[in-house]
Amino acid sequence: MVKDNDGRTSRIAGLRDMTVEARRAAVLAAAGLPEDASAALAGGGALPKALADGMIENVIGTFELPLGIATNFTVNGRDYLVPMAVEEPSVVAAASYMARLARGAGGFHTSSDAPVMRAQVQVLRPADPQGARQRLLAARDELIAIANAQDSVLTGLGGGCIDIEVQVFSDTPAGAMVILHLLVDVRDAMGANAVNTMAEAVAPRVAEIAGAPVRLRILSNLADRRLVRARVELPPEALTTEALDGAEVVQGVVDAAALAVVDPYRAATHNKGIMNGIDAVVLATGNDWRAIEAGAHAYAARSGRYTSLSRWEIGAGGALVGTLELPMAVGLVGGATKTHPAAQAAVRLMGVTSARELAEVIAAVGLAQNLGALRALATEGIQKGHMTLHARNIAILAGATGDQVDRVAAAIVAAGAVTVERARAELRDIS
Ligand code: MEV
Repeated sequence: MVKDNDGRTSRIAGLRDMTVEARRAAVLAAAGLPEDASAALAGGGALPKALADGMIENVIGTFELPLGIATNFTVNGRDYLVPMAVEEPSVVAAASYMARLARGAGGFHTSSDAPVMRAQVQVLRPADPQGARQRLLAARDELIAIANAQDSVLTGLGGGCIDIEVQVFSDTPAGAMVILHLLVDVRDAMGANAVNTMAEAVAPRVAEIAGAPVRLRILSNLADRRLVRARVELPPEALTTEALDGAEVVQGVVDAAALAVVDPYRAATHNKGIMNGIDAVVLATGNDWRAIEAGAHAYAARSGRYTSLSRWEIGAGGALVGTLELPMAVGLVGGATKTHPAAQAAVRLMGVTSARELAEVIAAVGLAQNLGALRALATEGIQKGHMTLHARNIAILAGATGDQVDRVAAAIVAAGAVTVERARAELRDIS
């Protein structure tokens, strides 16, 4: 078992073939987590009704999804087991497989900006929008001080409002507007509460200075000051398949990815594939996946034309070089990450200790997921692998249990008929 410098490993041989219980035990052991984390990760009552009732309104129950573990991830030389909550077959398998290929080539390399969020304060129809803008910029220090007086915990941790920006929209459907942005370092929080409170606090003074009323006071999910980046470089040999040599696969991935750069129809699907991985980790760690989705797609359209969030190039020695950059407003303190026992256990399992570290691992997973899809699309097509995994679902729907599931799945794939009807027939044959 190859371990990183901290003695952790994300390689667990034979995980796929174990029972759910044995898998959980193996994962806990590899992550160095005690048994008490097991129940929270097992699901089935992990979120007590009373806790759920306190989280949202009109609660009538809880809703479960499969929680899988992506293996093989090495990010900046450190090993991570990655929890993924997702309903789609093949997502966890593809991420793990691509992470295994990457691992042999040094894994993923990531970086991130300081966790700076934006809040917007909307000033309506000032008589002199440009004058209002300059008066607000001149009051920068006063406004920052008002904002920071709201959150002594955040400022005590070295965070808080660090700057302001002011933008004029001279022509909107509702007349001229001046928009003040508070830029707030939210440390290890997602930050929505902190920045919304600050925006509401500065609003009366903003209205006074601008000489016009304020309406909206809310964060922007286009968290473009909180970007995360991931990179992977794979030698062509790592991508060789039964049918194609590595250089052909590299060219295939680059060709497939190029369409997403220029064509929004393809970019939407390409980015959806990236978000398959990202959302699953965001959800498993109790973070706000709608915020991540909103930020990702707005960032993908920042030039005015929706494009791919990743780029795939051919580098030195014919290596496939993949890069991904997007906003990543995830936190470790507050929200469901703090209250949901499974989310807490998932964070412990990953072993991340800061929001930035979490964000960087998530970006690596997004890039791995993207590569998995592109590699399949550029070689045998997506359906073969997808159907093989989907066949297990179909087998279960047809009534297979235990080891019948894999036997029936294999039989319907071999027959080229992944249907419940065929699965029932196969089940009758083997029972
Ligand atoms: C399916 O969930 C995701 C893919 O469509 C992504 C892609 O096409 O790149 C396979």
